[in-house]
Amino acid sequence: MCGIVGIVGSRPVAPLIVDALKRLEYRGYDSAGVATLEGEILDRRRAEGKLINLETRLNASPLSGNIGIGHTRWATHGAPVEVNAHPHFSSNVAVVHNGIIENFRELRQALEGDGFTFTSQTDTEVIAHLVAKGLRDGLEPIEAAHSAITQLHGAFALAIMFGTEADLIVAGRNGPPLAIGHGEGEMYLGSDAVALAPFTDRITYLEDGDWVVIRRNAMTIYNLKGVEVNRDEQKSIGSALMVDKGNHRHFMLKEIYEQPEVIGHTLANYIDFNGDKIALRDMGDNQNPLDFANLDRLNITACGTAYLAGYTSKYWFERHARLPVDIDVASEFRYREVPMSEKGMSLFISQSGETADTLAGLKYCEQAGQHLAAIVNVRESTIARSSHNVFPTLAGPEIGVASTKAFTCQLSVLASLAVGAGVQRGHISREQEIKLVRELSEAPRYANDVLKLEDSIKALAHTLANKEHVLYLGRDTNYPLAMEGALKLKELSYIHAEAYAAGELKHGPIALIDEEMPVVVIAPYDRIFEKTVSNMQEVAARGGQIILITDPRGAQEAGMDGIKTIIMPEMPEIITPIIYSLPIQMLAYHTAVHVGTDVDQPRNLAKSVTVE
Ligand code: AGP
Repeated sequence: MCGIVGIVGSRPVAPLIVDALKRLEYRGYDSAGVATLEGEILDRRRAEGKLINLETRLNASPLSGNIGIGHTRWATHGAPVEVNAHPHFSSNVAVVHNGIIENFRELRQALEGDGFTFTSQTDTEVIAHLVAKGLRDGLEPIEAAHSAITQLHGAFALAIMFGTEADLIVAGRNGPPLAIGHGEGEMYLGSDAVALAPFTDRITYLEDGDWVVIRRNAMTIYNLKGVEVNRDEQKSIGSALMVDKGNHRHFMLKEIYEQPEVIGHTLANYIDFNGDKIALRDMGDNQNPLDFANLDRLNITACGTAYLAGYTSKYWFERHARLPVDIDVASEFRYREVPMSEKGMSLFISQSGETADTLAGLKYCEQAGQHLAAIVNVRESTIARSSHNVFPTLAGPEIGVASTKAFTCQLSVLASLAVGAGVQRGHISREQEIKLVRELSEAPRYANDVLKLEDSIKALAHTLANKEHVLYLGRDTNYPLAMEGALKLKELSYIHAEAYAAGELKHGPIALIDEEMPVVVIAPYDRIFEKTVSNMQEVAARGGQIILITDPRGAQEAGMDGIKTIIMPEMPEIITPIIYSLPIQMLAYHTAVHVGTDVDQPRNLAKSVTVE
């Protein structure tokens, strides 16, 4: 995840910005930079790699100036090299940005047509030129910044500086968080309160869609329509924990809200957004590059939520790459003595990278001479170090025991691998690849939009909180998602829940249905939707209480009165498992909060099960 810092100060700010960026290093990055304004001179220093390289650059060629912005970049568009590092300039404008600008291609073409010259491969540079164009068209700096922000599609947090304004930074967010710090004759902004802890613990968090005008002694926040809004100032917990809850009640809720950002960063590690193609960045030993074309079987082994991510990907690999997949819970796989194909690959999925059963399954496959690949959230973990190919999720530290952002990032990696496999195996044409890659690139925006459904989901959670049993139903990729929904509810609220393939209802579980049995149905409108409608009618006929998670077309086609619905935006099919994870996470979270359990540390559970 990228990190942003800005200071409208009363002293030289370059060293202060670098120190604040160091407190954001936990987010992961591969280049960094700082820009300051001295007189009317906007100047910057940037460097590849770690912050020590930027400090070396600054020691050799210091930056003065009492106002500045800084950035640690996790490369999304364009290689992690100095020319792509932020801040990005356009005439008298400097910008730092975290996230993905989905419509950067169209904006870049239009700006090049307006005579602007691009020097980087980044999406961010379009923001700088957009603001400069506004100034050239006669807008005042604040208007030019607001106009640029309203033209951006995607999930982003950004900060803008002007060569003519020694007492102004404009910032805005749509997805990734942004915190404003209140000082004595100084104001600060950062990706979270941890970055600002050395300066202040008086923090105001921007809400989604907010943008803010920051001056040395004043701050004015506006909503996207340009209407001034008020956001509470609060005391941050400072740096007591390197990772803090921000303005969320629980780590789990914070991590649910981080998903637009971390899904974007994870996808960017496997997709070349400029070239509209899959570009698998393997962090393994690179002695055994992954070649899906020669595989005749893929077996996926994992536990819990990670297993359900793998189960979801079975549909993708088999549909898009025509690659047969075996999916196993590791505790069963490790003792089954499964015969392994010589042309097979074994894939292990684990947030912690330390789960004992999963590691044991890996050792079994290693002894069977399998090609070993891993999807982990902890790169230096045992499972990663034991695998030939390593595909990290870039979820950042996941503190909540119930896995949320790691799950959607695992799905993001798996979707990229499945499309990449389809291309390598000749089952996905170039046109199909471009379409699928562009659909995947929209996931952060849809995730951000769906988070806005939280209040309606919270209201529904109250209907589950006093139940003893809940059934989850789904078909196709919504079946493992139903299992994940049941797992989330069980592990968070201690309410018994189980999931079934919707088509299985008639083969026994329908005996459970009565008015005391809520049934959560996960069903975006698709080619088999009417089959699920039949299942829902069977449930309703027996008094079952239905919560349907669908889209407007599904709600209309279901045509059923008396059911509760969560209406999701219509979206490309390939990203529905990723985005439909969010309502099931929020449903389980709010049910647990209502029940009163320990959401971040549910009873009997550990974050990493390193014993059998
Ligand atoms: C997820 O909500 C659970 N806490 C649990 O099932 C977890 O997914 C499982 O223990 C696997 O952990 P891992 O991803 O670290 O291997």
